[in-house]
Amino acid sequence: MKIYVTEDYQTMSRKAANILSAQVILNPTSVLGLATGSTPVGMYKQLITWYQKGDLDFSQVRTVNLDEYVGLAPDHDQSYRYFMQTNFFDHINISPDNTNLPNGQAADLAAECQRYNQVIKSQGGIDVQLLGMGHNGHIGFNEPGDAFELETHVVDLTERTIEANARFFASPDEVPRQALTMGIKTIMQARQILVVVSGEDKADAVKAALTGPVTPKVPASILQMHPNVMLVADKAAMSKM
Ligand code: F6R
Repeated sequence: MKIYVTEDYQTMSRKAANILSAQVILNPTSVLGLATGSTPVGMYKQLITWYQKGDLDFSQVRTVNLDEYVGLAPDHDQSYRYFMQTNFFDHINISPDNTNLPNGQAADLAAECQRYNQVIKSQGGIDVQLLGMGHNGHIGFNEPGDAFELETHVVDLTERTIEANARFFASPDEVPRQALTMGIKTIMQARQILVVVSGEDKADAVKAALTGPVTPKVPASILQMHPNVMLVADKAAMSKM
């Protein structure tokens, strides 16, 4: 694992944007695995700035997102599709057909999981998978559990995740209780993984993921087994290492 420690959130965002830019420049048809959440917002902003300057071209890039809430329409302002459109896709020259997220409104969620696995396979796998990290060490919506879930599946969100995400909703009651998420095997099959983490409130999760045993109780600990992980974290997130 390559670890880059940055001074603060802004430099973390810039460093992560540098890594994704390099990927897109070197391989304009890259398959990027993308994440939502607060952590990558600054990175997306930086990528948009470089795109607007003419330094980046996303016209052939393909994307597959990690996850989506169950039950939210794509135009719901807390759906991950909406997040991706407003924080990134609407501001760059990516083709809408090349962007993929699980469909949280699918009538048959099990069939939707199978469809999403096929989407990822049909792209030839993921070149770089971006990950944030939950306070409990979750990646995507792979919550702590007794076993690593392999492929795309439906998850019941933990109380801690519901609380953490409640800040985006009018009240905790409005936070969906389920999500669709890529599984650990799919994430681990990405050729490279880029993890972004910021803030002291993530310091315990970072420590458990990097130095603790590899266990489904801390899903991010599986990253210790991946041959090509880059972690970009600010000093606060690394403060317990
Ligand atoms: C987002 C995702 C989540 C977040 C994690 C951290 O697509 O899959 O695992 O990366 O919850 O979220 P933030 O960045 O908001 O702290």
